[in-house]
Amino acid sequence: MVRLAVIPGDGIGPEVIDVAMAVLEVCSARFGVELECRVWDLGADRFLRDGVSITDEEFDTLTRESDAILLGALGDPRVPSNVHARDILLGLRFKLDLYVNYRPCELLAPEHSPLRGERQIDIHVFRENTEGVYTDMGGVFKAGTPQEIAIQEDLNTWRGVERIVRVAFMHARDRGLARVTLVDKANAMPAVGGLWRRVFSEVGEEFPEVGRDAMYVDAVAMDLVRRPESYEVIVTSNLFGDIISDLAAEITGGLGLAPSANLHPGQHALFEPVHGSAPDIAGQGLANPLGAVRSAAMMLRHLGHDEAATAVDAAVRGSLRAGVFTSDLGGSASTREVGHWLTESLRTVEE
Ligand SMILES: NC(=O)c1ccc[n+]([C@@H]2O[C@H](COP(=O)([O-])OP(=O)(O)OC[C@H]3O[C@@H](n4cnc5c(N)ncnc54)[C@H](O)[C@@H]3O)[C@@H](O)[C@H]2O)c1
Repeated sequence: MVRLAVIPGDGIGPEVIDVAMAVLEVCSARFGVELECRVWDLGADRFLRDGVSITDEEFDTLTRESDAILLGALGDPRVPSNVHARDILLGLRFKLDLYVNYRPCELLAPEHSPLRGERQIDIHVFRENTEGVYTDMGGVFKAGTPQEIAIQEDLNTWRGVERIVRVAFMHARDRGLARVTLVDKANAMPAVGGLWRRVFSEVGEEFPEVGRDAMYVDAVAMDLVRRPESYEVIVTSNLFGDIISDLAAEITGGLGLAPSANLHPGQHALFEPVHGSAPDIAGQGLANPLGAVRSAAMMLRHLGHDEAATAVDAAVRGSLRAGVFTSDLGGSASTREVGHWLTESLRTVEE
């Protein structure tokens, strides 16, 4: 029995999670995936109603009583500070020490890439998820005056770097991938870059079957557009990973398609589409649910339900081939219509 905590969240979050849940329900029936779902009312509505993002008790119950968390998205213009989203999402990432942010960026259908030509893109981005500039260390002095000083520290520890680099090498080795690329800015940020490069080569020595190289983030941004097919596994810091993975997602069809996992291997796992709450299209049936559905497939695979995960991935490819997709990909189907196509396709899949 898989105990699943579901946080639909804000904006398009509930719309795409509805589809992902419908897909999971069919997987239960078709592939015997036993699911016990609890939906959590966490997001802007709750925050505006009760003045609370998530209580300590809710946090403890949610994490104690679930094997995995599936999240839609958080962020709402009615909460301009975004404090609730930070409390919930960054709270979960930091408190559960979800140090691996795995974002696979595979081009499923070449016509959905903004890049010209027949491309084969399959990039596995491993972003450090608990350190870097996202630790909110720093402060502002003389705020609002012409003398204002703002400092945001970039925190990197040997242990923090070592564990994400190791996960990236293990991923490459286990999948027979040839190379791991470290992305940094060691020329302009030698203290942090030096630490990452030393750890990268020390850990890399333990994986002689996997090649390795290091590149500056600006060069990678350019190169991902020029020759994305030459990248396999990328490992990088929290900030660079955030940016590079959006770029990699865009060249493989856009944010609407991109899935992700936030993991502390062996302990906790949270799955979410890469996109945000997209308030500009919320409530209009325009949201592409495939990022959420593919995140659910990643969750199934993580929990050992390979057959169901493979069937969901195949259904997603099938919907793209059949031309059933939302307007962000140039289609005319609504969020629900894509969901309906996927569930019907899974219901009729051969045993
Ligand atoms: N993990 C998260 O919960 C997460 C991630 C990113 C942003 N956010 C939050 O989401 C809110 C909006 O942020 P943003 O506009 O910068 O990013 P966004 O990802 O929500 O939207 C960026 C653009 O992509 C489009 N888009 C996103 N997802 C789509 C989908 N599934 N189908 C079709 N189009 C889609 C949107 O319409 C928008 O034009 C903010 O409050 C932000 O903080 C949350």
